[in-house]
Amino acid sequence: MMRMVDLIEKKRDGKPHTKEEIRFIISGYTSGEIPEYQISAWAMAVYFQDMNPDERAWLTEEIVQSGDTIDLSAIEGIKVDKHSTGGVGDTTTLVLAPLVASIGVPVAKMSGRGLGHTGGTIDKLESLKGFSVEISNDEFIRLVNENKAAVIGQTADLTPADKQLYGLRDVTATVNSIPLIASSIMSKKLASGADAIVLDVKTGAGAFMKKLEESQELARAMVEIGKNLGRNTSAVISDMNQPLGNMIGNALEVQEAIDTLKGNGPDDLTELCLTLGSHMAVLAGKAADFEDARRQLEEAIKTGKALEQFKIFVSAQGGDEKVVDEPGKLPQAAEHVTVAAPRDGYVSEIEADEIGTAAMLLGAGRATKTSEIDLAVGIEMHKKIGDQVKKDEPLVTLYTNGQGVEDARAKVLESYTISAEKTEKPTLIYDVIT
Ligand code: URA
Ligand code: CA
Repeated sequence: MMRMVDLIEKKRDGKPHTKEEIRFIISGYTSGEIPEYQISAWAMAVYFQDMNPDERAWLTEEIVQSGDTIDLSAIEGIKVDKHSTGGVGDTTTLVLAPLVASIGVPVAKMSGRGLGHTGGTIDKLESLKGFSVEISNDEFIRLVNENKAAVIGQTADLTPADKQLYGLRDVTATVNSIPLIASSIMSKKLASGADAIVLDVKTGAGAFMKKLEESQELARAMVEIGKNLGRNTSAVISDMNQPLGNMIGNALEVQEAIDTLKGNGPDDLTELCLTLGSHMAVLAGKAADFEDARRQLEEAIKTGKALEQFKIFVSAQGGDEKVVDEPGKLPQAAEHVTVAAPRDGYVSEIEADEIGTAAMLLGAGRATKTSEIDLAVGIEMHKKIGDQVKKDEPLVTLYTNGQGVEDARAKVLESYTISAEKTEKPTLIYDVIT
């Protein structure tokens, strides 16, 4: 008979687990037969001793099997999902879904609401009056087959083992372990039915992985798990030393996504969307190579095809697609408050997390799961790293309905570092792993 204490000892001594052992650990944990203190000790052993590629793939598989899985086989074509390891003001999904759908890549997305920093994709989409993610599975599949893109709210019980394990890791100092992070992220993508996966692994001060080498290691681990489980996976390593794009907040990010689909978006957001979208198109078999994919996506923006796709997607789910031509139809904040630069110089640092927190203080994000959010409020950044500023020039504009203005202003000022010497703009794309 297998005993958990022996398996902890085995991992503690740096020996690899078998597939059966990993199944025993995960199923025993979710059924409650193995107590949390033993899983804690085991997670710490994994933290120090790591896992080989087979163990990582088996762990991912067992986490997938702990809950429901979504079957997207009724959708024609190769379903490619995109996952970001998390950033502030990351509007890529709102741009990418219609953009890649417009060149024939099916996008079937299950999304959640945001907690903390800013809203999730569903919150953002609900800025479009009437838009609903509460659709049946049949309707969801029909919409993707007809329009190539649809978003459904999280209904199924996906990867409960991950929720349980993540909660435990969070309080036992075992979050920051490559095999545990990689299996956690990949299990969720696999359970939600993706055939192929494009990962946006963030790196830098505002990211989970602050050092490039760590981000590359995490990316390689996830790409390898994907390959071992029969899912073509690519990873792009992108900058999170400052928020992406210029807008943070729900309706503001919808506006920014629309601008980007029109070809008028911020350079960094546009470039990252074209890069991630090209990898999605290649994995979906809709482009011969990366250059061909990129050319098709640029063309879709230029001809208005991507924007048209956004309108189709929005109106199919009950949303008001007229916002595309009449931005005033999006929720509007009552006041615009400028935060001015305290001195002359160059922006050398912007703490992304702090900007996210400032937006939350204005009401854009949830402090707790049940908080109400204000879709209209948020932050527009006028200055990013490398930009010159003069004293009293606007750094950001706070879009507010009266809540949290002074606290948000203080957070913004704390998050900006203005130096005498010129700083280079950070690199946007550091590496691609396929
Ligand atoms: N995000 C996840 O989903 N899981 C982790 O373990 C870390 C970040
Ligand atoms: Ca943004």
